[in-house]
Amino acid sequence: MDVNILGIESSCDDTSAAVISNGVIKSNEIANQAVHEAFGGVVPELASRAHQQNIIPVVDSALKKAGMTAEDITAICFTRGPGLLGSLLVGSSFAKGFSLAQNIPLIDVNHLQGHVLAHFIKENEKDTDQPKFPFLCLLVSGGHSQIIIVKSHLEMEVIGTTIDDAAGEAFDKCAKVIDLPYPGGPVVDRLAKLGDPLSIKLSKPKIEGYNYSFSGLKTSFLYTIRDRMKEDPDFIKKNTENLCASLQHTIIEILMDKLNKAVKDTGIKEVAVAGGVSANSGLRNALIRYGETANVKIHIPKFEFTTDNAAMIAIVGYYKYKKGLFASQDITPLARFSID
Ligand code: KG4
Ligand code: ZN
Repeated sequence: MDVNILGIESSCDDTSAAVISNGVIKSNEIANQAVHEAFGGVVPELASRAHQQNIIPVVDSALKKAGMTAEDITAICFTRGPGLLGSLLVGSSFAKGFSLAQNIPLIDVNHLQGHVLAHFIKENEKDTDQPKFPFLCLLVSGGHSQIIIVKSHLEMEVIGTTIDDAAGEAFDKCAKVIDLPYPGGPVVDRLAKLGDPLSIKLSKPKIEGYNYSFSGLKTSFLYTIRDRMKEDPDFIKKNTENLCASLQHTIIEILMDKLNKAVKDTGIKEVAVAGGVSANSGLRNALIRYGETANVKIHIPKFEFTTDNAAMIAIVGYYKYKKGLFASQDITPLARFSID
């Protein structure tokens, strides 16, 4: 019998629903919330309201695209956390109602596990290009920067994490300093292609182990601009591309240094990258080059699965379904929720 999983993602500002059938993607619908652009960041209260408006149409569309009705769904899963509580409540309440109405299992999913398992979403039955266990995963998003040892589909160990800002946050906050729109990551990526990555020197953190830190880089970016503007008030306007290229170059160097250390120390020669920042073209190129020079197998997700989406939630739901790991109706969302 087919196992058709309906996944719901509502942890931040994207409302998404997806159907995965026996591990193969059938649909992945996402409603982005433009309402936050004017505020230069996600406004939690507005996000919850927008999820409430979007959730039914998005689920409806995901079912239609998959050629299914609610009766065809075997189990429903939802993002339990981490994320914004008001946003998570919309997705979890919807999933609970759907599970009761259809009398099917309810499955809770850790959003971060979703980013990692996005690598296991199959495009078709013959798709076998998936990481082999154990592999290292560099998880870089707006809220997290982690190095994870992935031991099996549902068994993960965080060996490094950020002690302050996440990589995506560094992109977004620095972009804001130079008046770029939110989210800054994709804009910096585009403008960086036109600039010189070595034109502006920015400081890198000196911390032990596999942990990351990006708040010093943000300060260094801010102070460099402040100093240069004393000489030339138009410094930002004249150097936007160089600022983007230098910022991106430094973030990538910081990420790659620790990843390289983790590969060397663990001896694991298989690496995957996940999360919104894995859409970054510079990071993708750096990983491909690293794979070639260090003889490491690199897995880069399709763009569709880098930023928040419900297909990655549905694939975790699929593996939990196979193990009979179901949730009860009294489950509550978690704003903080570790991957391990
Ligand atoms: O995974 P995600 O969609 O949401 C979280 O779980 O946080 O990641 C969003 C983050 C934002 O900080 C955004 O600026 C960043 O991913 N991002 C990028 C790119 N596309 C998205 N950062 C750098 N380059 C990109 N192309
Ligand atoms: Zn995410």
